[in-house]
Amino acid sequence: MTILVTGGAGFIGANFVMDWLAAGNEPVVNYDKLTYAGNLENLASLKGNNRHIFVQGDIGDYDQVLQTLAQHKPRAVLNFAAESHVDRSIHSPEDFIQTNIVGTYRLLEAVRAHFTGLSAPDKSAFRLLHVSTDEVYGSLGFEDPAFTEEHTYQPNSPYSASKAASDHLVRAYHHTYGLPVMTTNCSNNYGPYQFPEKLIPLMIHNALIGKPLPIYGDGLNVRDWLYVGDHCSAICVVLERGKVDETYNIGGWNEMSNIAVVHTLCDILDAEKPRADGASYRTQITFVADRPGHDRRYAIDATKIDRDLGWKPAQTFETGIRRTVRWYLDNQPWVKNVTSGAYRAWVAAQYQ
Ligand code: NAD
Ligand code: DAU
Repeated sequence: MTILVTGGAGFIGANFVMDWLAAGNEPVVNYDKLTYAGNLENLASLKGNNRHIFVQGDIGDYDQVLQTLAQHKPRAVLNFAAESHVDRSIHSPEDFIQTNIVGTYRLLEAVRAHFTGLSAPDKSAFRLLHVSTDEVYGSLGFEDPAFTEEHTYQPNSPYSASKAASDHLVRAYHHTYGLPVMTTNCSNNYGPYQFPEKLIPLMIHNALIGKPLPIYGDGLNVRDWLYVGDHCSAICVVLERGKVDETYNIGGWNEMSNIAVVHTLCDILDAEKPRADGASYRTQITFVADRPGHDRRYAIDATKIDRDLGWKPAQTFETGIRRTVRWYLDNQPWVKNVTSGAYRAWVAAQYQ
């Protein structure tokens, strides 16, 4: 048996692939386009592991996806591949439309063609798990109840609109063609290997190189933070025990304002890697212009996945964020390669 993961060279996908291979014997085919966010250096620990099969490809390439499915015959496809950064979607939505909407559509078409040719037992075991986001639900007021799976879709950014479109396509492929799909909608992840364009790794990186820590608007926007390993364990649970045509919200029960997150990071860094001048990293905090259309608050009600599948996060924010800061402090060469773009040279040397 094998699973096929798309986007497995990115932040969450790479963590998932490493956790998957560490937990069992089942091989994983890792299908990734290697955009700026895809980095084979994330998977360096798997060098020589023949249970990890990397295929460079675009989910929008129907023929290559179909050929990869025919060759490896996975029992499941897990779709992590996406353009994922909200700010980039505001500056340049085109890639988000192409990958998140058109790419997901072509992936679904290829999976459907593959699925149609399976034997009855293989069909009944097959799953497509689509990895999505809480951002499809829109923005909450401070007093509103958290998002349940029944919340109306109200995406506000080109990113979240493109993810919402992909969720609807996935749902439609079950209802129209009987494809056995499941969708997960997760809150903000943090942890090792996150590209330093996202809040937490950006703040750690800027703090250490003495640059300003740019807080959008008043810093009171709220996100629900989940350690990436917990997102990965939730996806495994949904894959093994989730019901076809169901969606599962995944979250950390951990709402925090952006300014509180950045204060926490500064305090940990003050203790772990004090500035040479003895001042706190908090002095680097700078309030900057707000993100256009900035969603005020996200909060996930993760009752369903707990009640129906028995999943709960293992890390608290306190434990997860300390691990994360430690990882970035211990992996400065990774940060340097990513931020300098030199990781592309690493990939070329490693895989010609
Ligand atoms: P990421 O940007 O770090 O990684 C995305 C990966 O997908 C990269 O390896 C990239 O090369 C690959 N990719 C992009 N376009 C592709 C294409 N057309 N074909 C094949 N591969 C392609 O993203 P991430 O943060 O790891 O997010 C993974 C998934 O989880 C996304 O679907 C995202 O929407 C979802 N998600 C992310 C978060 C979060 O906090 N980061 C939270 C909830 C859901
Ligand atoms: O909620 C899940 C989503 O979380 C995922 O679907 C997305 O892929 C992921 O990128 C993330 O989206 P956000 O927009 O919430 O994450 P980001 O790290 O970009 O920003 C987190 C918050 O911090 C947000 O309110 C904007 C703010 N921010 C971000 C940056 C990069 C700042 O204040 N300053 C910054 O420089």
